[in-house]
Amino acid sequence: MSKGVSASRPGPRHVAFIMDGNGRWAEQRGRPRLLGHRAGARRVREIVESCPELGVEYVTIFAFSTENWKRTQAEVSGLMTLFRRYIESEAQTLLKQGTRVRFIGDRLRLDKKLRGLMDMIEALTAHNVRCHLTIALNYGGRDEVARATKRLARDVADGKLDPDAITDETLPRYLDTHVLPDPDLVIRTSGEARISNFLLWQSAYAEYEFVDTLWPDFTRAKFEEVLDRYGSRDRRFGGVKA
Ligand code: IPE
Ligand code: IPE
Ligand code: MG
Repeated sequence: MSKGVSASRPGPRHVAFIMDGNGRWAEQRGRPRLLGHRAGARRVREIVESCPELGVEYVTIFAFSTENWKRTQAEVSGLMTLFRRYIESEAQTLLKQGTRVRFIGDRLRLDKKLRGLMDMIEALTAHNVRCHLTIALNYGGRDEVARATKRLARDVADGKLDPDAITDETLPRYLDTHVLPDPDLVIRTSGEARISNFLLWQSAYAEYEFVDTLWPDFTRAKFEEVLDRYGSRDRRFGGVKA
């Protein structure tokens, strides 16, 4: 059985998921979309819990994009309730598992109660080091770069940053992900082959896997298959094969 590490190459240190297909999963069953999101949340638990055992140190999940506000008010508020329940029900499990939880995205548009729970689980798990779970909530790659640029520009205006000293290592220090390594592998479920504004800067050299499975059907076994395929990929980063 796979342990996320092939015989020859190490497994990915950081896996990021675009968890897509909850709505279609429910529609295929003639059920409301929210039911698909609930099934998706159960799968999040399974996949997140498997990460430390599979040797994945960092796992990032795209839970809600800056564009997802375009959905009906009923779906948006149902998702927000689900996020609150997930945090409440998983906090102790994640603490015991040694998983540190962080959030990326713009928190300002989220309601106060949810923000309070986000702060709570971040503080509760702040000393954990076994695994790092990052939840992208009201996250958009372009929005993140815009917010980062605003802070960077402020530092220039305040005389704390010399424009001539800016390199490609400067902006990432202002991104929400500044404490995280770049993703090695980005997995999108549901058969769509697009990135939908996810980790635009950070994924410059990520490997991508687009799988047809809808997120609520994406089991640990399917995850292990993807990890096995990653092991046979040849990452060159612009260089030549070693
Ligand atoms: C992904 O599933 C979850 C969120 C975007 C919150 P979708 O809700 O996008 O499911 P589909 O793409 O409509 O099937
Ligand atoms: C991306 O899925 C966002 C999340 C998984 C949270 P979407 O379903 O929103 O993306 P599009 O609209 O198909 O590009
Ligand atoms: Mg979708």
